[in-house]
Amino acid sequence: MHTTKYSILPAIKSLFLSLDIVSATVSYDDKAFIINGQRKILISGSIHYPRSTPQMWPDLIQKAKDGGLDVIQTYVFWNGHEPSPGKYNFEGRFDLVKFIKLVQQAGLYVHLRIGPYVCAEWNLGGFPVWLKYVPGIEFRTDNKPFKVAMQGFVQKIVDIMKYEKLFEPQGGPIIMSQIENEYGPVEWEIGAPGKAYTAWAANMAVGLNTGVPWIMCKQEDVPASIIDSCNGFYCEGFRPKNPNKPKMWTEVWTGWYTQYGGPVPHRPVEDLAFSVARFVQNNGSFFNYYMYHGGTNFGRTAAGLFVATSYDYDAPLDEYGLPYEPKWGHLRDLHKAIKQCEPALVSSYPKVTWPGKNQEVHVFISKSGACAAFLANYDPTFSTKLMFQNHPYDLPPWSISILPDCKTEVYNTAKVNVQSSKVKMTPISGGLSWQSYNEETPSADNSDTLVRDGLLEQIYVTRDSSDYLWYMTDVNIASNEGFLKSGRWPLLTVMSAGHALHVFINGKLSGSVYGNLDNPKLTYSHNVNLRAGVNKISLLSVAVGLANVGLHYEKWNTGVLGPVSLNGLDEGTRDLAKQKWSYKVGLKGESLSLHTVTGSSSVEWIEGSQLAQKQPLTWYKTTFNAPQGNDPLALDMISMGKGEIWINGESIGRHWPGYIAKGNCGACNYAGIYKETKCQSDCGQPSQRWYHVPRSWLNPSGNLLVVLEEWGGDPTKISLVTRTA
Ligand code: GAL
Repeated sequence: MHTTKYSILPAIKSLFLSLDIVSATVSYDDKAFIINGQRKILISGSIHYPRSTPQMWPDLIQKAKDGGLDVIQTYVFWNGHEPSPGKYNFEGRFDLVKFIKLVQQAGLYVHLRIGPYVCAEWNLGGFPVWLKYVPGIEFRTDNKPFKVAMQGFVQKIVDIMKYEKLFEPQGGPIIMSQIENEYGPVEWEIGAPGKAYTAWAANMAVGLNTGVPWIMCKQEDVPASIIDSCNGFYCEGFRPKNPNKPKMWTEVWTGWYTQYGGPVPHRPVEDLAFSVARFVQNNGSFFNYYMYHGGTNFGRTAAGLFVATSYDYDAPLDEYGLPYEPKWGHLRDLHKAIKQCEPALVSSYPKVTWPGKNQEVHVFISKSGACAAFLANYDPTFSTKLMFQNHPYDLPPWSISILPDCKTEVYNTAKVNVQSSKVKMTPISGGLSWQSYNEETPSADNSDTLVRDGLLEQIYVTRDSSDYLWYMTDVNIASNEGFLKSGRWPLLTVMSAGHALHVFINGKLSGSVYGNLDNPKLTYSHNVNLRAGVNKISLLSVAVGLANVGLHYEKWNTGVLGPVSLNGLDEGTRDLAKQKWSYKVGLKGESLSLHTVTGSSSVEWIEGSQLAQKQPLTWYKTTFNAPQGNDPLALDMISMGKGEIWINGESIGRHWPGYIAKGNCGACNYAGIYKETKCQSDCGQPSQRWYHVPRSWLNPSGNLLVVLEEWGGDPTKISLVTRTA
């Protein structure tokens, strides 16, 4: 998987460090970006390349173009590109150059957010886990080891982009980049070292001479060389620090992400369009939908806290790449209207008037006489008749009408002329025939176990090579212990920093606990059935993605850190935390690579009436043929609990339909201020029931589907479905 592609770049760096300027330049003033001498209102959308497959890219990009976008924005995902120090991966879903070239072929521009901190609900915010263990390192502050590593990666990406001639002055599509991500709030908290780091990051980036502007989002104190920008549900009131910079909105949140245990968020398109129109009438000149296509957190790329595998985001293109209507179409119509106004917008400041209560009018008139007007009704409850140049205009509540000639209303943000899509998930007939394999609790005596006094932090041991870490210890019970006679079993208490835990006593599951959205920490507290002599306590601690945001989130702990105690013995309470523990990274099935064709044939599977059902820690496998046609595919996992799914050896992500969404799914009115908890669905249902199976991962026949189930479920009720809209 990891190739030497681009690994020679540093050696020949000096050859192409200077930019071969082919043509045009990207510049800007306070009104707009100027590309090739043309002022533009730039309409952009985020598509994160590893959240779909290369086979999906051309179609996603084309649909973005058809939806009226000029720019595709993506982060660069460091942990995907450098899984171990100096070993690079630019293949498959991580073929960044291919992605950018496809955008270029479609005639669109690229905003490359190199970060390398990305947040993005992505494991550890995009940083490789090994970076945590570089001696003396502290992330995102004025720290030498961190700065050295960060500069190395940023330089690497910039070098590759230059080598492939992808920056706009070289004839490429990249018109802007980004360094860091929303660092302002962190800087505000940590003070001086934060300030120094910002200045360093800006200088370092600018020094790379990309020939295109650098952006820092949510960074109020940007140095003069950098453009600051706004992220949020609304940004009309944002002003760049320097009045000579264009007003940019790098993240127009089109919805929000789903977490296991939470409902599915939706942002009504009327409010989304309203927020964009409001930004544009207030001199906004660049806006980017975050996300335009959210996609899927394949494998173990989803971040903590419990970010779901689906990263649909309620975006205009749904997780499967289908236009999500009326969102996609209504925004396309908005973009047409804005482009009709472009000549006036990019060359004049608006004249603002207030004809009535909650009414506002913006009129742009260019020197050449182009006129565009935006009529607004800010009332969240009542529609209004707004008089403009002696004509009445009907405006629904919380809406803006766009008049590209100052006469004709071509668009109103709340008048949706696009049909809603009805999504159908249709099971494909013919059940799957399953086989099972039981994962056993490991023995502490194996040679591959690590033995230590006391409890170790989970990621320190696993380096995140697996979600799973076994903590194993022995408990000796004297034959004259009182509880053996009284039957009053002792109380075992285990405290864990997260995120889920299965407790086995003498090889038998005694209980499972997991954290929730407010708190990843958990406590297991149960009376346990112990016998005289040696008892084996095996704790399977499960990580569900590493945090991606929060002050020094990289220092947050995972796993069983104690206390661990046994209460109700003759001696009182026994502290188990400090005694000898054995550690084993990962499950047996993982080390056997049961998810692959070769690995899965190395063990005996059980089938028919013996098939394991509702049994924890079980592997299931089956094979299936690719369904006819091109409709996107998903697995309906409703009958399962928690685990991970693989198709032909590729992980489609963690499943957790057993985590039922709690929250408020009340009525949803588009009008009025939106926040992510406003218009939710699926309360009382699994947070995620369907899991995307990329078509391109399938062969015509004999596809291997493997499911690891932690909780216990009924695989015979899993079905492959097609998605149609
Ligand atoms: C932003 C961040 C994005 C993403 C978003 C929430 O603050 O910049 O990367 O995490 O929040 O989806």
